Amino acid sequence: MNYYKVENLEQYFKMYNKSVREPRKFWERIADENFTWYQRWDKVLEYDMSKAEIQWFVNGKLNITKNCIDRHLNKRGDKTAIIFEPNDPKEKAQHITYNELHQRVCKMANVLREQGVKKGDRVCIYLPMIPELAVSLLACARIGAIHSVVFAGFSATALNSRIVDCDAKFVITADGSYRGNKSIDLKGIVDEALEKAPMVQTVLVAKRTNTDVPMKEGRDKWLQPLLDSASSNNVAEIMDSENPLFILYTSGSTGKPKGMVHTTGGYMVYTAYTFKNVFRYEENDIYWCTADIGWITGHSYIVYGPLLNGATTVMFEGIPNYPDFGRFWEIVEKHKITQFYTAPTAIRSLAKESTEWVEKHDLSSLKVIGSVGEPINEEAWHWYNNHIGQKRCPITDTWWQTETGGVMIAPLPFVTPTKPTYATFPLPGVQAVLMDEKRNEIEDNQVVGSLCIKFPWPGIARTIWGDHQRYIDTYFSAFPGKYFTGDGALRDEVGYYRITGRVDDVVIVSGHNLGTAPIEDAINEHPAVAESAIVGFPHDIKGNALYGFITLKETGLTRDQNNLRNEINQHISTHIGPIAKLDKIQFVAGLPKTRSGKIMRRILRKIAEGDFSNFGDTSTLLNPEIVDLIKDDRIE
Ligand code: WTA
Repeated sequence: MNYYKVENLEQYFKMYNKSVREPRKFWERIADENFTWYQRWDKVLEYDMSKAEIQWFVNGKLNITKNCIDRHLNKRGDKTAIIFEPNDPKEKAQHITYNELHQRVCKMANVLREQGVKKGDRVCIYLPMIPELAVSLLACARIGAIHSVVFAGFSATALNSRIVDCDAKFVITADGSYRGNKSIDLKGIVDEALEKAPMVQTVLVAKRTNTDVPMKEGRDKWLQPLLDSASSNNVAEIMDSENPLFILYTSGSTGKPKGMVHTTGGYMVYTAYTFKNVFRYEENDIYWCTADIGWITGHSYIVYGPLLNGATTVMFEGIPNYPDFGRFWEIVEKHKITQFYTAPTAIRSLAKESTEWVEKHDLSSLKVIGSVGEPINEEAWHWYNNHIGQKRCPITDTWWQTETGGVMIAPLPFVTPTKPTYATFPLPGVQAVLMDEKRNEIEDNQVVGSLCIKFPWPGIARTIWGDHQRYIDTYFSAFPGKYFTGDGALRDEVGYYRITGRVDDVVIVSGHNLGTAPIEDAINEHPAVAESAIVGFPHDIKGNALYGFITLKETGLTRDQNNLRNEINQHISTHIGPIAKLDKIQFVAGLPKTRSGKIMRRILRKIAEGDFSNFGDTSTLLNPEIVDLIKDDRIE
């Protein structure tokens, strides 16, 4: 049996059981057979969940870029590693071979060393989706520097706090970036962020928009001339399995963003293994994940996972609706994409438009399509299945988190039968459990519980940068001995998991646990509804009641609003039950969303409660102006 690849359902069960019975042996075999180590580990795993101390492949020595690049050069030197698809379809795509990637990463690594970057230093990367971004991550990893990528849509304040938190002395950025028909003054944002970040010594600036930007003497340097004169020979740093590879910030429900720390050995093994299985990757496939490398999805499944497998991975600089709503499908056709991986929010926004945008393009190259980042509602699932997968390509609905490093629960294409809105089975090595309020494991099905993982897996984050106590408190305290995901889920009779949303999104109405996501699903199926968000608010008799914020497909509503409210409630009644009916329905122009497309329910909850005193940190909102509009029309 090939441990690295699950072939059928029977094998899945075998591997899963093996991974639970003998987790060390299971992961050891995968780590042994598929990677290059300078020195083998002494012990596969050492852990203490109560202290949140986890080590994988203890004392193993490696460099992840040797595994991502160098070891492919013999067989795949001329194979394309990265396809860069620019924002403007008129600009030519770039095909970067493994040989070229090797050269570029080595040069960049040498530039960083010349600039004084040492093993363990933090390098903040604030770049658009251009090849320099992937090259920068890999160059840091090559010399043992810890990269901290900040999504280049974040504001100066958000960038500043992330630089200060990890004390980054180096920043890599660009003059500007393109986004649809706009260009953004990236360097200006960096300058503003650095006004209060005195630790930063050096800013390396890539050219993208060729705009004139001020360069601060002694601090700012153009990257290209440095690369031009750098050598392409570079000896990779020897890293310990548990040396940090990167920090990536994720927002918590309270307080400042958490700098999740991922280490080298376990992350490598986990992302490589999951990429291969979750996307059923085969040699010569062309894989495209539409995420930005600024998020964990991009780290694990644009850069590391694909390159570790010697794959061809697409980096797309643009947005789904530029120059028109057919852009994604045009790219699929152009590069003959075999695996396509995107977020439900993108699916929903494209599903609103005419299917002509899809039908114009030949999608016959597709084999597997994926979804990530939030629960995919039933309507979006079917649209994706019918129009993009054309009922031919399995949808892999992948549940995971920044903290988990890689996919945890997902159907394995052509192995696990799919079921709309279900992420299905945990991957081998993932010991998922559901917990009730009394902290007991739930054995029953169809009950919402808190999703926990009761045994370490190689990809788990090791700490929060600079605050291990917060790491323990956030993830290892609610259910002692277990990692708490913060998500709710239910399990069906065959053992499939359905993620119902953050546990704080579960509302108990008259003693009944109601997940808000399934109610939203039901509402979204109403023909007039575009999108909805349900939150709970305190109610004298029921304990909690439900408040719905709903956007309509047709703006400038001509229909009687009360009629529509009744219809929606009727719809919920028939889909879920009268218990799930909404007490209040407010039609809104838009929902407050983070830049990664997540609805910020915290704010909606406050509005529903009528508490306007403190909305917390709204700096990550894409559309902050919507908050006041919603507030003003709140239903008493
Ligand atoms: C949610 C993104 C339902 C979940 C990789 C999780 C999902 C949070 C899914 C992590 C999915 C992610 N179905 N919910 N397939 N994938 N989530 O850290 O609430 O940006 O806890 O990682 O997104 O978001 P993050």
